[in-house]
Amino acid sequence: MEKPKNSYRLEKFNKVNEQFFNYYRLQEIIPPNEWDMFIQTLREDLPSSFRIQNCLPEKETLIQYLEEKYFAPLRDLNDESIHAPESIPFVENAFQTNMSRSTVRSHPILRDLHEFLINENTIGTMSRQEAVSMVPPLLLDIQPQHLILDACASPGSKTMQIIELMHKKSSHPDGLLIANDVDYNRCYLLVHQTLKRMPTANCVVVNTDASQFPSVLGPDSKPMFFDRVLCDVICSECFFVNGSLRAVMVPKIEVGFGTSEPNFDRPEPTQIHPGTIGLDRA
Ligand SMILES: C[S@@+](CC[C@H](N)C(=O)[O-])C[C@H]1O[C@@H](n2cnc3c(N)ncnc32)[C@H](O)[C@@H]1O
Repeated sequence: MEKPKNSYRLEKFNKVNEQFFNYYRLQEIIPPNEWDMFIQTLREDLPSSFRIQNCLPEKETLIQYLEEKYFAPLRDLNDESIHAPESIPFVENAFQTNMSRSTVRSHPILRDLHEFLINENTIGTMSRQEAVSMVPPLLLDIQPQHLILDACASPGSKTMQIIELMHKKSSHPDGLLIANDVDYNRCYLLVHQTLKRMPTANCVVVNTDASQFPSVLGPDSKPMFFDRVLCDVICSECFFVNGSLRAVMVPKIEVGFGTSEPNFDRPEPTQIHPGTIGLDRA
């Protein structure tokens, strides 16, 4: 039987969550006169952004191609609703643009660019990744010799960035990245998407609950400590606005695990503090 067309109704998403607002009010970090602006900012859509793989030998050629084939022609349109992608100042070879989905669909160059980005993302020459998600790996100051735990790694956009940063100063780094996820199927994504795109001898994927991460023993059978721990447990489903609160970097911050119904008024029952369970060297 043919499926009826328009058998559903799309309603505008109401970006209101009193528990979330109360949580922030209780923190008293936003001055009252900036509250409305803060909430309004959280409600804004995130820009579309993408990052070209730094290890890609042809990255300059790819950037030149993007500039000539898409960015310059988009600027030449002189249309106020169309914003050609611009460099993100704090990330190498990353670009972002503020445009609604309907604008992207409305213009042939933008449609082509969108398709191009999807294909390049599939091939692995670039990652379609939110700009906010690009920040935590940069703050970790990754060095080639570091032992790093990416505690909640899948689907692996930050894992990929960490691998790139490890290889930035040395093509044969001595360090090791342990990319972990509690979800077995999402570990499969890490192996078959991230590591396929970014083959490296310096990353292993493991599948365990990060709140009970076992000690890693060194060659002398003594526990080894991580130089860096990235814990990106919070999923967008927990929040009412995508990107309003995403990556949490540890050590020093407590993070809640595994709740589908976040309670912003009190700490989650299953919290981990990698500092207190002895994962980090600090
Ligand atoms: C926000 S996503 C991580 C995104 C990822 N860091 C990236 O940049 O692509 C959160 C991940 O945490 C995982 N997760 C949730 N609870 C966990 C736990 N207790 N231990 C390990 N992983 C967990 C989820 O399966 C999910 O894949």
